[in-house]
Amino acid sequence: MSNSNEMKYTDKQLAAMSNDELARLGTELDDVTVAYRKERFPIDNDPAEKRAARKVGVWLAIGIVAAVAFLAIYLFWPWKYKGLGDEGLWTYTLYTPFLGITAGLAILSLAFAVIIYIKTIMPEEIAVQRRHDGPSDEVDRRTIVALLNDSWETSTLGRRKVLKSLLGVGGVLAGLVVIAPLGGMIKNPWKAGALGIQGDGTLWTSGWALSSRKGVKLYLGRDTGTLAEKEENSTGEHYTTQGVTRLVRMRPEDLSAAAMETVFPLPEDLVNDGDKYNKEADVYEEHMHSIHGPRNAVMLIRLRSEDAAKAVAREGQEDFHYGDYYAYSKICTHIGCPTSLYEAQTNRILCPCHQSQFDALRWGKPVFGPAARALPQLPITVDEEGYLVAAGDFIEPVGPAFWERKS
Ligand code: FES
Repeated sequence: MSNSNEMKYTDKQLAAMSNDELARLGTELDDVTVAYRKERFPIDNDPAEKRAARKVGVWLAIGIVAAVAFLAIYLFWPWKYKGLGDEGLWTYTLYTPFLGITAGLAILSLAFAVIIYIKTIMPEEIAVQRRHDGPSDEVDRRTIVALLNDSWETSTLGRRKVLKSLLGVGGVLAGLVVIAPLGGMIKNPWKAGALGIQGDGTLWTSGWALSSRKGVKLYLGRDTGTLAEKEENSTGEHYTTQGVTRLVRMRPEDLSAAAMETVFPLPEDLVNDGDKYNKEADVYEEHMHSIHGPRNAVMLIRLRSEDAAKAVAREGQEDFHYGDYYAYSKICTHIGCPTSLYEAQTNRILCPCHQSQFDALRWGKPVFGPAARALPQLPITVDEEGYLVAAGDFIEPVGPAFWERKS
């Protein structure tokens, strides 16, 4: 906008101008030339105008219905996960497509209505403006408001009450369609849920919490990697998980010195190995839940005895190990990669993502790289039958540092 005209108009003069005059002044000051302008419907009550308004109204109404449908589906449709064979699977699978269809329709309808309105109802106009640099002055600020008022007047929306209301409602609902899904991100991270083999969904529980919060005996379960088996019967070939054991209990002698094994919580009632093996039992899915628990993976490390003699316990964790056996969370405290590498020579645990290193002889303390906190240590022991079990839960949250963590 131009500054050269600032002195030509006093506040008093500007205040005395009508909106039309200010709008005209604004276009002049902006170096805008209206090259062409034509009313679409110069005659009052033109049927073509009514038809055009009806078209806009129909699109707005479609948009409103779609937006209301979106909000209703978002709030009330059964969205909780259903697996194959579960009741309500069909309805559940429609949730996401319906959300997409209704959201898309709501926004598109509103866009169509606006485009049709501009193309068929607002006056046709071609205006050309020269480009200016620098800040706006008082005259420009006033005239721009006047121009906006003028646009509102010439759009004729002001006198089209039905369209105006539909546009208002449609605009609000379209906004809600965009904003409402953010509601799904509002969660109370402190609210405890039903504690299961994967924790309760909060940041400080894992499947290992079952041992101290529910008194469940948890074995350190080794993943055998066994898959469903193919079987044949009168109805053909089938895959079955019956009798397939994914997690098996471990005894200390299953691990040689300077070795590491990844273990997962294996509750007593899900054991299906050794003398408890039952070929009819189907524990596969539960075992997989334990393996997939985001904070469940633990590295069971057997130190060489001469190294174990040098190990230093952290205060409060003196009895967390069993002889030469130490169990550390496998979830890196940097940003959560699996710290899968145990270097027996140096007794360091390495995270391959950003090269953090943790000292297995010093409670999993970080000694190199971006991780700033120790790997939580799981207290372990051996039960009366000689199997390795958890002696309790982690005493600190597992995984990347977050605001609640003190260590
Ligand atoms: S996630 Fe382990 S070092 Fe970054």
